[in-house]
Amino acid sequence: MYAVEIKNLKKSYGDFQALKGIDLEVEEGEIFGLLGPNGAGKTTLMRILAEGLKYDEGEIRIFGESISKRTRRLIGYVSQESIAYNLLTVEENLNFYADLYDAPKKKVSELIKRFNLPPKKKAKELSGGFKRRLNLAISLLYDPKILILDEPSTGLDVPSRRKLWEEIKQFKEEGKTILLATHYMEEAEILADRIAIINEGKIIAVGTPKELKEMLGEESIVQVEGLLKGAEKLKNNFPRVLEKENSIRIHVKEPRQALPKIIEILIKEGSQIKAVKVEEPTLEDVFLELTGRGLE
Ligand SMILES: Nc1ncnc2c1ncn2[C@@H]1O[C@H](COP(=O)(O)OP(=O)(O)O)[C@@H](O)[C@H]1O
Ligand SMILES: [Mg+2]
Repeated sequence: MYAVEIKNLKKSYGDFQALKGIDLEVEEGEIFGLLGPNGAGKTTLMRILAEGLKYDEGEIRIFGESISKRTRRLIGYVSQESIAYNLLTVEENLNFYADLYDAPKKKVSELIKRFNLPPKKKAKELSGGFKRRLNLAISLLYDPKILILDEPSTGLDVPSRRKLWEEIKQFKEEGKTILLATHYMEEAEILADRIAIINEGKIIAVGTPKELKEMLGEESIVQVEGLLKGAEKLKNNFPRVLEKENSIRIHVKEPRQALPKIIEILIKEGSQIKAVKVEEPTLEDVFLELTGRGLE
């Protein structure tokens, strides 16, 4: 039995089909990552599972039971937006939601302690990291078996992000099943046991991070950094080229043969090269291979 089982899920907003037949199986106790760029349909999928957003077609089971208002009690959801009331304190927010969800009051003090939250501070006075933790605490009030996190670390600084990642791993230790949406490949890579890559409303690959990267076979990635010109020329010579802010990543079969050619093209086009590295593929390279574009 799966924690979450989805078959052929479709959802449109007006004429626009946001989910085009999603199949997904999340095992109990795993951290499952949904990795895809903005607009892929991640939030739509999560809102269907966690908020009862209507869908057009498909079948969803939560621990074997057809999705319903009842199964929503098994799911805690932290959305991209904060649900805390700005003018209420941390403690007041938790008490408010504990009432709403009919959760035991002792959970409030437990969660304040667990997340090291300042009980008397107003929500609006919290830093981004603490605000996210307050939202996480709210979602844990009724001890859900499945935790759904939508872009949990977006907008957080590096230390808060790392702290949050530790928390998420801790939930797994405690036996919770976690479904996590992100467009941030490092987050998926560090946290997820398995990942589904989603693009334009479709799942295009599923596997462990290692399995996904093995899809690239023997390919290596040449990463060139600097003030670069000539990406278009490179694309004529190499099938997979990813342009980033101050770097270009090129998928190659034989780095030794490809390197001189890459450098020649870039210099001819007037680039200032600062560094060249040959790297193992990342999940973003897998995404590029599958879709022809980057994650951002
Ligand atoms: N309420 C809505 N009404 C109309 N279109 C929407 C609505 N919500 C999302 N969309 C569209 O559906 C697509 C998927 O959005 P979303 O599920 O938010 O993707 P993601 O979370 O992966 O960025 C996007 O093209 C978005 O513009
Ligand atoms: Mg989203």
